[in-house]
Order: sequence, then C-alpha cells, then structure tokens
Amino acid sequence: MAAVDSVLRQLGPDDHVLVNADGYGGTHRLLSQVHRASFTAVDLSDLGAVAGAWTDRTRLVWAESPTNPGLQVVDIAALAALARERQAWCAVDNTFATPWLQRPLELGAHLVVHSTSKYLGGHSDVIGGFVATDDDDLAAAIRLVRNAAGSVPGPFDCFLVLRGVKTLALRMDRHCTNALAVAGYLRSHPAVRSVSYPGLADHPGHALAARQMTGGFGGMVSCVLRGGEAAAADLVARTRLFTLGESLGGAESLIGYPARMSHASLAGTPLAADPGLVRLSVGIEDVDDLIADLAHALGR
Ligand SMILES: Cc1ncc(COP(=O)(O)O)c(C=O)c1O
Repeated sequence: MAAVDSVLRQLGPDDHVLVNADGYGGTHRLLSQVHRASFTAVDLSDLGAVAGAWTDRTRLVWAESPTNPGLQVVDIAALAALARERQAWCAVDNTFATPWLQRPLELGAHLVVHSTSKYLGGHSDVIGGFVATDDDDLAAAIRLVRNAAGSVPGPFDCFLVLRGVKTLALRMDRHCTNALAVAGYLRSHPAVRSVSYPGLADHPGHALAARQMTGGFGGMVSCVLRGGEAAAADLVARTRLFTLGESLGGAESLIGYPARMSHASLAGTPLAADPGLVRLSVGIEDVDDLIADLAHALGR
C-alpha cells in the first residue's frame, strides 16, 4: 500500500477524490482513516454517475479495473479523458489486470499503481508495489515521498519480483484460461446465484474489457452463493486446492471471503461486500483439478 499512499500524498488538504464503490477495502481504509481525505465512492463504470459525483475540488479519480472484489470493468480511456479535461489526475490500480493484460498509461491515465505482491511477484512470497507515470513532475514528487518517507523495497524483494516478471506472460495466459473455465463451471452450479468474470460474454463490461485489455481477462473470479453468508463460509472452509487466503495472484489458487477478510474494514458501511460473495484467485494448476475441488466443496 506504500505505492498507493505515495500517490495520495500528492493531494492537497482541500482536494476531493472519486474512487470505485466496488474496490479494494485497503484503499478505502487508507483514504478514510489514514489520509482522512474527502472522497466519494461511486460506480466508476457508470460515466453519468462519475459526472454527477464530480465536484469543483475533484483532483483525483482512483480507478480499479477489473475491480476488487466485484470484477466490474471501468472505461479507463473515458475516465482519463474526463480527468484531463477537468485538470484532475486519473490513477489506475492495475493489480488485477497486470501490465501483460492492460496498460493504462497508453489509455491516457496519469498514474498506474501495482501491488507487486500479487501477479508480478507471482509466488505469494513478497510484499511490494510501484507507481508508474509518464509525467515528470508527478514522478519527481512521488520519488520525493519514497526518499523522504522510506517506502523502499529491499534488494531481495526486488530480486523476487524481477524473477517473477520473467514468467508473467506465461502465468497470465494460464490464469486467464483457467479462470474462464472456472467461471463457466461456477455459473452452471445450482448453488451459485451469480458469477462475475469479465471474460464471460454476458458480463456487462465484457465488450469494454475485450477492447481495453489485451489477450485475456485475468485470473480473478467472484461469485455470490444462493445460500448467502453461511454457504460462503462453508465453501471457503471445504476447498482443498483453493487455499483460504486474503492475497491473490500467486501460482497456487486462493479462495477468499471478502466480507470477513480483504474488505472487513468496510463492514457496516454502504460499501460492505456482499456476505455471500466468494472471491477466487484462480491459479495455474490443472484446471480439471481446480473444478473437481470446487465441485467437491460445493457438492454437499
Ligand atoms: C487491487 C489491490 N490493490 C492493492 C493491494 C495492496 O497490495 P499489498 O498487499 O501489496 O499492499 C491489494 C491487496 O489485496 C489489491 O487487491
């Protein structure tokens, strides 16, 4: 989160931020509890809602696409164009997509943030992040924060991320094909109410994702179970190949329960995750084994 923090430190005391209503709980926590920033959480996939939430103090649009945990797709080029027109910044948290599948600077964003703990490291054994920008002034200001506040990765962590990046393309291709198959399977299961994966042709953001992403739709899938909270808790306790874990993006599959884990800080707020929602980070294992694991866990 130091990378996210270094961007938020560019805000002035009167600046206002627009952020995905469906977005990583840690980012909301940083905005509200650490920076005590003025922000509005809005459905950034709805450009009308974005325009409606815009104020004359809006300085930053903070976008995830696909979002965590709902896997909504946001039109990065349109948001970036709106931000530029109104002298604001558009920052994209590209952690779910990775640079292999989506390049927000080419779509007009000012800033791109990645957690390298996820797909870039790829093996769930490092914590880190970075900010990319093609704006020299922003780069200098963010470098100052890094130098002054000390959010500097250690050499071994850098080595792990650089080693992970060598296989990023291979892993992402496999994550994408496995995730599509898992999403298709979940959709066919009677215990599952809905599945969100941008690669499914009937996902509301599918056509947009096909345009702005390259070569696939990522490895994250979420679903809402008909049995709600109890069924979600039961599923995450019963899978064996999908290990219960809060992180994502590693070679091994993880399953998470956002309402009680990654998004627990939003509990009791209008932004709280659906208690029946389960988030899967689909790994690169044999997809038949992954589906068999889910079939067994859901079967009871
Ligand atoms: C979309 C997104 N951005 C940023 C982060 C923060 O990553 P880190 O754990 O490396 O601080 C997460 C963590 O889950 C995330 O899901």
